[in-house]
Amino acid sequence: MAMETAGSYILEVQGLEKRFGGLTAIGDLSFSVEKGVIFAVIGPNGAGKTTLFNMLTSVYTPTAGRIFFKGQDVTGMPPYRLARLGMGRTFQNLQIFMNMTVLENVMVGTHIKGRQGILAAALRLPYVLQEEKMLRKDAEAALEFCGMADLANRSAAGLPYGILKKLEIARALAAGPELLLMDEPAAGLNDSETLELSILISRIRDSGTTVVLVEHNMGLVMDISDRVLVLNYGRLLAEGVPKQVQTDPRVIEAYLGSD
Ligand SMILES: Nc1ncnc2c1ncn2[C@@H]1O[C@H](COP(=O)(O)OP(=O)(O)OP(=O)(O)O)[C@@H](O)[C@H]1O
Ligand SMILES: [Mg+2]
Repeated sequence: MAMETAGSYILEVQGLEKRFGGLTAIGDLSFSVEKGVIFAVIGPNGAGKTTLFNMLTSVYTPTAGRIFFKGQDVTGMPPYRLARLGMGRTFQNLQIFMNMTVLENVMVGTHIKGRQGILAAALRLPYVLQEEKMLRKDAEAALEFCGMADLANRSAAGLPYGILKKLEIARALAAGPELLLMDEPAAGLNDSETLELSILISRIRDSGTTVVLVEHNMGLVMDISDRVLVLNYGRLLAEGVPKQVQTDPRVIEAYLGSD
């Protein structure tokens, strides 16, 4: 990649913009995420959170601006290359293979680390089996981390929604991401599942993985985040530690106004 930044930030966004026809879903957005934190992006409905998430994960190409990951310009880089660089993600809508076991689902996440092609795998060459063993170990470790080791050989079909959401997180972790982007991880969870999730996300951060989460659940965000960015009409409204943001009159106004 041609351009680099010098900072110690794991993620930097500069002048990001996404327009849909005449609508500016994200406009002139700049922010930086320090390594090792939980960084939350919040905002009223239609503020541009999902659009931002989709640009960070290269689902959308920005109409202007740059995204730097680990100092490298990754704007428009294909998702599989972002994954190999160490950017993991979870999906708002579950992407679970119901005909597979829990362990197999997690192993899908490890394959970006694998070096062997389809042909070598099909021939079941010894080094492929060796690699398969390592990937299995990573998958098992991720399940263990998420407290799901006992479910490894269960079929994904029939497992409760809360468990499947955790399964998605385990899959993302199995690839060993340096940065994990989560799209509304608490959506659809009940209170006790949400509490469990907040503990899990904190542990992910404490284990050294930086977390960026887009989330509606203010309680969760204010509980666990180190920094919070508030979007409103596609623009940065406020950014700071949870206390700062919670008491910011502009933020209160934006939320009251939108209800
Ligand atoms: N593919 C698209 N084409 C046209 N307009 C879009 C598209 N995606 C989003 N928008 C518009 O961009 C704006 C931001 O939408 P976005 O989904 O990013 O908001 P959000 O903050 O995720 O909202 P919510 O909290 O409801 O999920 C909205 O006005 C939306 O209608
Ligand atoms: Mg959204």
